Amino acid sequence: MIRVQVPATTANLGPGFDCLGMALELYNIVEFSKISRGLVIEVEGDGAEELPRNEKNLVYRAARRVFERACRVPEGLRIKLVNNIPVGRGLGSSASAIVGGIIAANVMCGANLSMREMLNLACSMEGHPDNIAPALLGGLIIYTSVEGEITWTKIDLPPALKAVVAIPDFIMNTRDTREALPQLVTMRDAVYNIGRAALLVAALQKGDLSILGTAMDDRLHQPYRQGAIPGFKKVISAARLAGARGVALSGAGPTIVALADGNFELIAEVMKNTFRECGVGARTM
Ligand code: HSE
Repeated sequence: MIRVQVPATTANLGPGFDCLGMALELYNIVEFSKISRGLVIEVEGDGAEELPRNEKNLVYRAARRVFERACRVPEGLRIKLVNNIPVGRGLGSSASAIVGGIIAANVMCGANLSMREMLNLACSMEGHPDNIAPALLGGLIIYTSVEGEITWTKIDLPPALKAVVAIPDFIMNTRDTREALPQLVTMRDAVYNIGRAALLVAALQKGDLSILGTAMDDRLHQPYRQGAIPGFKKVISAARLAGARGVALSGAGPTIVALADGNFELIAEVMKNTFRECGVGARTM
């Protein structure tokens, strides 16, 4: 039996749209075992009711790409998924499924795909890299891909830094929210984000958390997504007042992520309460 543990991820971190993503200490488990014939998929945990248990399952579809590439499709496969990452909340549940399927299949059929090959395959399925890369590589990843030429690097995070996430009880579809983003942005907004993305990486590398508040602001995606999240600005302000160093939309949302080096429980409580005051049920982690 092959068992893979894949982390949840938070993408963008404010200004790093499609370039920055960070792994979180919350994991889905993917188990593959060979059986004599057919496909059996068992799902436990988050999304257990809704996720398909046939060839449409994303873990299976990712695995199938690896099996076919290696010309070694198994006669029979049993997949067991234990899901802890909430589905459709901006915490990389689909990236974890794709990465889990690719790694498990790579081991099972001995395809020997390199990290770069797995990254390319996974990103081609997901359509954007900033959940896939940290799900596969761990840590905080800066990733750039232009016309298939990928370059990435991982940065060390300050040991005291933790992420607090407030997860609203509604789903946002990443594909739909991406379609609502503008295709062109002004030079002013581009410069605004480049400066903040650079500040953010430097702040994390140097452990200078005092500039995270400025560094995690964004003009490329959050302004176009926040209208769908009641209380977005209030939750961010409340988290900052409670001691969070920087706060942003997690991926395409609706989860909001706060980075902090203390006051974690207080930050979680005020984020949840503020969401509730705005009519949104939310859980925190
Ligand atoms: N960068 C992607 C987006 C991440 O914001 O659409 C989605 O999780």
